[in-house]
Amino acid sequence: MTTLITNIKELLQIRDISIKKISGKAMKILPSIKNAFLIIENDVILDFGKMKDLPKINATKTIDATGKIILPSWCDSHTHLVYAGNREGEFVDRINGLSYEEIANKGGGILNSAKKLQEISFDDLYKQSAKRLEEVIALGTGCIEIKSGYGLTVDAEIKMLKVAKKLAKNYNISIKTTFLGAHAFPLKYKENKNAYVDLICNEMLPKIASENLADYIDVFCETGYFNVEQTERIILEGKKYGLIPKLHVNQFTSIGGVQIGVKHNALSLDHLEILTDNDLNSLKNSETMPVALPSCSYFLSIPYTPARKIIDAGLPITLATDYNPGSTPSGNMNFVVATACIKMKMTPEEAINAATINGAYAMNLETTHGSITKGKKANLIITKNINSYAFIPYAFGSNLIDTVILNGKVI
Ligand code: NIG
Ligand code: FE
Repeated sequence: MTTLITNIKELLQIRDISIKKISGKAMKILPSIKNAFLIIENDVILDFGKMKDLPKINATKTIDATGKIILPSWCDSHTHLVYAGNREGEFVDRINGLSYEEIANKGGGILNSAKKLQEISFDDLYKQSAKRLEEVIALGTGCIEIKSGYGLTVDAEIKMLKVAKKLAKNYNISIKTTFLGAHAFPLKYKENKNAYVDLICNEMLPKIASENLADYIDVFCETGYFNVEQTERIILEGKKYGLIPKLHVNQFTSIGGVQIGVKHNALSLDHLEILTDNDLNSLKNSETMPVALPSCSYFLSIPYTPARKIIDAGLPITLATDYNPGSTPSGNMNFVVATACIKMKMTPEEAINAATINGAYAMNLETTHGSITKGKKANLIITKNINSYAFIPYAFGSNLIDTVILNGKVI
């Protein structure tokens, strides 16, 4: 099956296969071709170039993209998309003045979602999650990471990861899974937190690893959650099973999560709303990807990750949604890109680099996703008729997507 797309107003994010991530000043550059064609062979990009160089081909299907911009699908490297029910009651509590921390201390927050998750059946959890996955696919997400972490028991953590695996089997989208048993301490371990770390290390991890349910290991390293020592123990235990760390750090406080993540070659360190100069220095000279989650900052009214400071230090940055019922009930990468431009002063070029190729890197998918490159997956967003790509973050409340192509198929 050969699909030919013609008359593309602008084809964005053209990269050589050797490019793994974009850092510092280079993030301001978004290579493109104006008045372009693109050829898809089955599920991959076969060729592209200027319309005047269009070779003679026998296409099964032709799409005329006159007036439209094409870019690689969004790569969402941080989500908690598998969850049960919602928490709009806590949302109202926050409007009325309670903080995220106060709500958690009242037994709300992650533990509220954990209770719902422990009670829901596998099939209902699958149905709720599939609906969300379909929604984000329609919004242009072409590969995604999904975490556990609302189970907090052996069985419920496994249930979450199995739902994510079933989604991966049934939907035409690349899904990476992360084990986040260390998301919060269940109430019964309140007085003996290390016993819960024991449960993670001695029971959850071996079962999850033996069933091949996770690619990565995550810990919510934060004041009141998992301390640095507990985080390091879990990272080391995960490493025994080949699980690479991708961590929640510095959402509310800087307690050494960045240093422990860098020390253990974390693939990514996510949140970073609070970033000290020492943290920034630790990230330099590492291959670890800093990940910002602006719709979480927006929803919780907490500081935005200092993207300018990170980029101006020569580092790369990724943008992801953090889709979850507590801090970010939205999986809309278009909103993330717009918010990064509006609130974090990232340029449209930086934001698009951060939400595509750098996101792919943060899931080890950079050889197959995140750019317009011959041989990579044909995962594309075709916009509506727009003047320039800056219109995507500018018109932040509009859906500017005309067509989504996933693995060569029009969705
Ligand atoms: O990434 N910060 C930790 N975990 C989630 C929120 C969890 C929740 O409130 O349910 C996050 O923001
Ligand atoms: Fe998160």
